[in-house]
Amino acid sequence: MRLSVNIDHIATLRNARNEFDPDPVEAALLAEKSGAAGIVCHLREDRRHIRDNDLERLRRAVTTKLDLEMAMTDEMQLIALKTRPELVTLVPEKREELTTEGGFDIARHYETLVEFIKPLNDAAIAVSIFIEPDHHAIDLARQAGADMVELHTGIYSLKETEEEREKELENVRHAARYARSLGLSVVAGHGLNYRNAAPFSRIDDIEEVSIGHAIIARAAFTGLENAVREMLVLLGGDA
Ligand code: PXP
Repeated sequence: MRLSVNIDHIATLRNARNEFDPDPVEAALLAEKSGAAGIVCHLREDRRHIRDNDLERLRRAVTTKLDLEMAMTDEMQLIALKTRPELVTLVPEKREELTTEGGFDIARHYETLVEFIKPLNDAAIAVSIFIEPDHHAIDLARQAGADMVELHTGIYSLKETEEEREKELENVRHAARYARSLGLSVVAGHGLNYRNAAPFSRIDDIEEVSIGHAIIARAAFTGLENAVREMLVLLGGDA
């Protein structure tokens, strides 16, 4: 099980003072050094955390895999084509939300999505779509030309009883199997933390988890290297 680390909230903290520290690029390098398989950043329309200059610097510094999370807008498409991350993850984005609130509504945006993905594919940028663990959404992602899907685990993370969590996990497990059977790579993410992430390491069809908030929050107490390594151990690694 690989781990991608989202470093957006290092930028959130930096922006609280609007100066230079802590630097998201330094965080990316520490996360890589500690075993992260990739670095994720979400360039939002309102630039509330990662900014354009961060993205440019991250592109130059990251040597594992840079995953640019972004909304399906012309502005973001141009930025992706210019920056050339290894991976673009398309997410729905609402200006007023605190964090991404759910999977991309592929059925609603299908025609636009097909046209949006083409130039990214032509530029050899892999495309992932953040979706609910749902067979129809997976079919549409495949048809639209995605290489990968990221299954939304936010619903799982909010379940309060073991029984409810297991039920939602089963949902994700089925969706992952189906996506892999169609030839898609599968990532899972959102709301995963030190209490709820371990079961994903036992789902063979999920290759990677993408985690941000929990790791950055723990890093405030233990340091980022320890926070990343602890998560890797939970996911069955030997970091
Ligand atoms: N995956 C996607 C698509 C996201 O939008 C986010 C949040 O930015 C994450 C994963 C990470 O979620 P969290 O910060 O809850 O770990």
